[in-house]
Amino acid sequence: MTDTDVMERKRVSEIPLHGPEAFEAMRKVGRMTAECLDLLAEHAQPGVTTDFLDRIAFEFIRDHGAYPACLHYRGYTKTICTSINHVVCHGIPNDKPLRDGDIVNIDVTLILDGWHGDSSRMYYIGEVSRRAQRLCEITYECLMRGIAAVKPGATTNDIGAAIQTYAEAERCSVVRDFCGHGLGRVFHDSPTILHYVEPAYNVELKPGMLFTIEPMINLGRPQVKVLSDGWTAVTRDRSLSAQFEHTVGVTETGVEVFTYSPKGYDKPPYGVA
Ligand code: MF3
Ligand code: CO
Ligand code: CO
Repeated sequence: MTDTDVMERKRVSEIPLHGPEAFEAMRKVGRMTAECLDLLAEHAQPGVTTDFLDRIAFEFIRDHGAYPACLHYRGYTKTICTSINHVVCHGIPNDKPLRDGDIVNIDVTLILDGWHGDSSRMYYIGEVSRRAQRLCEITYECLMRGIAAVKPGATTNDIGAAIQTYAEAERCSVVRDFCGHGLGRVFHDSPTILHYVEPAYNVELKPGMLFTIEPMINLGRPQVKVLSDGWTAVTRDRSLSAQFEHTVGVTETGVEVFTYSPKGYDKPPYGVA
């Protein structure tokens, strides 16, 4: 498929379809994104500030010839998002130390050679309660079930159904206010990936589509509110929230995940002290 073909298909469908060169670039940036999250696993401990984790991520990214996509994105001032306990997403790193028992989502997006890799994982800070661990495990399973639904001919609602069915069977709720997204040379592109069923938006998956799946799952109600900093989203009922995110591509036969951890650190615990 030539670039002209890709552009033509884009005009027709409005959803970019990418060729082999794009997939190769996404493998590179996806791996580096995962390596950045792997590195953070060694530092996410009680007493460490999220600003410190932000600096580790920034330096890793710059040392590897990449750029942090979130920095200066719509006025955001950090490299990573750090979402602790009842924070759903877009928590801003600060000078407060992490505490024993916290669960933290770290979300990082890299730009390498113009291509975006976007991934997030949960981290256990010290000893974490059984209920918090259970939420993280359910959320990881939601992501993996969503990924397993991806293949040509399936639809975005198949992804949402896989996630919502499992989360609700486990008596958890799916956040509606944030979603996965197409990406590639653009950070947030079409298609939109909802983590629940919405018949009014349902797109057929085709080879060459690139997008994230990033379910946010709450122990309580699904409602969220954004704090006055304009970013930090928290659960309205202050229940615990968890999220995992991978960047994937639709292949001729199924799905390719670009952001798996080379160390096998895809979900906690990560086997570091
Ligand atoms: N990485 C987030 C996502 O999954 C976006 C964060 S935007 C920021 O789409 F500005 F808050 F960093
Ligand atoms: Co992200
Ligand atoms: Co994303």
